[in-house]
Amino acid sequence: MDRRSFLISSAALVAMPRVGQATAEPQVLRAMGFEQQILPTEFAGATRVLGFNGSTPGPELRIRQGRQFDIRLQNDLDMGAAVHWHGIRLDNRMDGVPGMTQPLVEPGESFDYSFTPPDAGTYWYHSHYLSQEQVARGLMGALVIEEETPPDVDHDITAILSDWKFDPEGQLIDDFDNLHDRAHAGRMGNFARVFLPDVTLKQGMRIRLRLINAAVDRIFPVILKGLSGQVVALDGMPLARPREMGMPVLAPAQRVDVIADVTGPVSLEMDHRAGAYPLGALAVEGAVTPRTAGISPLPANRIPPAAKTAAQHLTLTMQGGAMGRGHGGEDIWAFNDMSGMREAPFARFSRGETARISLVNDTRWPHGIHLHGHHFHELDETGALGDFRDTTLVNPGESRDILCVFDNPGKWMLHCHMLSHQASGMMSWVEVA
Ligand code: C2O
Ligand code: CU
Repeated sequence: MDRRSFLISSAALVAMPRVGQATAEPQVLRAMGFEQQILPTEFAGATRVLGFNGSTPGPELRIRQGRQFDIRLQNDLDMGAAVHWHGIRLDNRMDGVPGMTQPLVEPGESFDYSFTPPDAGTYWYHSHYLSQEQVARGLMGALVIEEETPPDVDHDITAILSDWKFDPEGQLIDDFDNLHDRAHAGRMGNFARVFLPDVTLKQGMRIRLRLINAAVDRIFPVILKGLSGQVVALDGMPLARPREMGMPVLAPAQRVDVIADVTGPVSLEMDHRAGAYPLGALAVEGAVTPRTAGISPLPANRIPPAAKTAAQHLTLTMQGGAMGRGHGGEDIWAFNDMSGMREAPFARFSRGETARISLVNDTRWPHGIHLHGHHFHELDETGALGDFRDTTLVNPGESRDILCVFDNPGKWMLHCHMLSHQASGMMSWVEVA
C-alpha cells in the first residue's frame, strides 16, 4: 500500500466506496465495536471502529416532527457511553450529557431516551462521553426530523462528512490526548470522505442533500459538482429565503440542507489548500425532464420570538491554544479565564428570557460554538437577526453576537464543537430556570 496515496495533501482518490445507511427506525441503538471498511480497499483493509448496530455512521433515524420518539441505548462497549441528540430542543433529562443530565451508561447497561422533536430538519446524534475519542472512532449518526409536508424532490439524501486519522495499516491512530493537536486546529484526519446512500440519480432530477459535518475538528468547505440549487436550511432550521448554493462551509456539528437539480455527474469535494479533495460521488444514469418550478422555502418551524431588547448582555471570550495569549484557566483552552466544567454556570437565565452573548475569539484558531437545547440567532453588525443556528463558527480574531431566547429549562452545555478543544477546557454550561 502506498501510504501517501490516501493522505489529504496528496493526489486525489478516484473511486470512493459508498456506505448505505439503514432507514429503518430501530428501537434499540446498540453502541458497539467492530470492523468496517472505511478506506478504499486498494489502500487498506477494515478499520476497527465504534458505531451503532454494526455500522458507522449508525442507522439514520427518521422521526416525524411533533411525534414522540423512544429509543434505548444499549451499551455493548467496554467503556461508558451516552448519546446526545444534537440540535434538538428537547427535555433536559434526554440531552445525553453524562454527569449533568443523566448518569453515565456503564458497559452492559442501557438508558431509555424519549423525546418529541418540535422542529423538522437535519440533526444528528453522537456520543457525549469522551466525545473527542468516541466520535472520532465512529459513534455518530444522522437524525432526520421529517416535515408534515416534505418538499417536492426525487431523492432525500443524507451526506455525513467526516475525517479519520489513519496509521499505514488503516487503523485509527490512538493519540487522542495529543497535545499538539489539541492546542492547534484539533485532530485532523489524513483521510476524509462523505458517507452517502447507494442511490442512482438521473440528470434533471431534483434532490435534497442534507450535509452533516460529523468530524471532530475539521471544517469542511464543500464543493458540490453537478448540482444547481439553493441552500434551504442551516442547522436544521429553514431559511425564510433560500440562498445561492455556492460553497457551503460546515464547522464541526453544523448542517446545511440543499435542494438542487442534477445537471451532470454529482460529486462532493473538499476545498483544500492542496487542491480539491474528493469526498464521494453519486451515480447519475439517464435523464428526466427537469422541473420548471423554482425552489421554495421549507415550511417554517415555530421558533420562539425574541424580545426587542435583551435582558442580559454577556461576553464569552475564547482564549488559549498555540500562539495565543495567556489566560487564567488551568487547561489549554478557556472561556473567560476558566477551563472546563465548573460548579457555577457561565450564566443563569430565567425561563423565556432573551439574552445577547458576544462570542469573542481571542485566539489564533477558529471555534464552532454550540449551545445545547436551544437555537439562537446570529446577529449582523447592525444587530439585525441573522441565521437561526445551534452552532456558530467564529474565526480567529473575530467576534459574533448571538441572541437567544432561553425558554428551555435545565442545565445546558455551551462548548466548542471542535471536540479536541472541548476536551481540553473549552466548555461551560448555562442554567435556565
Ligand atoms: Cu454535538 Cu455538546 O454536542
Ligand atoms: Cu475550539
